Amino acid sequence: MRKNVVAGNWKMNTTLPEGLALAKGLDEALKGKTVNCDVVIGTPFTHLASVAAAIDTTKIGVAAENCADHDKGAYTGEVSAAMLASTGAKYVILGHSERRAYYHETAEILKTKVNLALANGLTPIFCIGEVLEEREAGKHFEVVEEQIKSSLFELSTEDFGKLILAYEPVWAIGTGKTATADQAQEIHAYIRKVVAGKYGQAVADDCSILYGGSCNASNAEELFSKADVDGGLIGGASLSVDKFLPIIEAF
Ligand code: PGA
Repeated sequence: MRKNVVAGNWKMNTTLPEGLALAKGLDEALKGKTVNCDVVIGTPFTHLASVAAAIDTTKIGVAAENCADHDKGAYTGEVSAAMLASTGAKYVILGHSERRAYYHETAEILKTKVNLALANGLTPIFCIGEVLEEREAGKHFEVVEEQIKSSLFELSTEDFGKLILAYEPVWAIGTGKTATADQAQEIHAYIRKVVAGKYGQAVADDCSILYGGSCNASNAEELFSKADVDGGLIGGASLSVDKFLPIIEAF
C-alpha cells in the first residue's frame, strides 16, 4: 500500500541541544494524536543517535541527510550507511539538489549510495527535480526521467519497492515559490508512469512520491489533495513544531 509521508529536512541547521529540543517538541506534540501519514525528521549526522534515543521512533522516523559512497575504510570525514543504521536512523535523504549542485554528486555516485543504503536496511528518500532553466525550456519531464533511470533503474523490483521518491523543483527550494498543486500533480503522475514502465503498475502505484520546495502549512493541504502527491519533504518549515505540525495534519 502506498504510504503518505511528511519528512523534515533540517539541512545544516540547529546545534545538538537545539535539534534535541526540536525533536522532543515534535514528539510531545504528536503524543496521543492520530496522524494519517508517516512522520520523518532528517537531522545532521551529529544529532542522529541522540534524537533517535530521545523520541518515540515508532511515531517519528529518523533520517540522515546523506551517506558515504563507500562501505567503510580510509575515507576521512565520511559517514557510512552502516554507521547511520547503527544510530537508529531508518531513512536517508539522497540526491538532494544541494548535494548534487554543491558537492558534485553524480548519478553514478548516487546509484552507489542508494545501493549501500538499501544494503544496510535504510529507506532512501531519493530526490529528483529540475532547475529553473530546464523548467522554462519545458525539459522538466525528461530531466526527472533521466535522474530516475540513471541512479535507480538497475535496482531489483524488490529493492525499488523500498524507496521513497521526492520531486523537488530546484527553483522552489527555499525560495518561497512553490510549484502549483497542478504542476506537482502533472509531474508526479509522469514520474509514476516512468516507474510503471520499468517496474509495472503495481510497484508504481505503491511508490510514495513526495513534493518538496517551499511546502508549508498554507499550501500543504492543496498539494497533498492531488492523487499522485503522497506527502512532502519539508525544509524551512520543519525547523519549528508550530510550522511542521500543521503540514503533518494536512493529511
Ligand atoms: P524548503 O526545502 O522546504 O525550505 O523549500 C525543501 C528541501 O530542500 O527539501
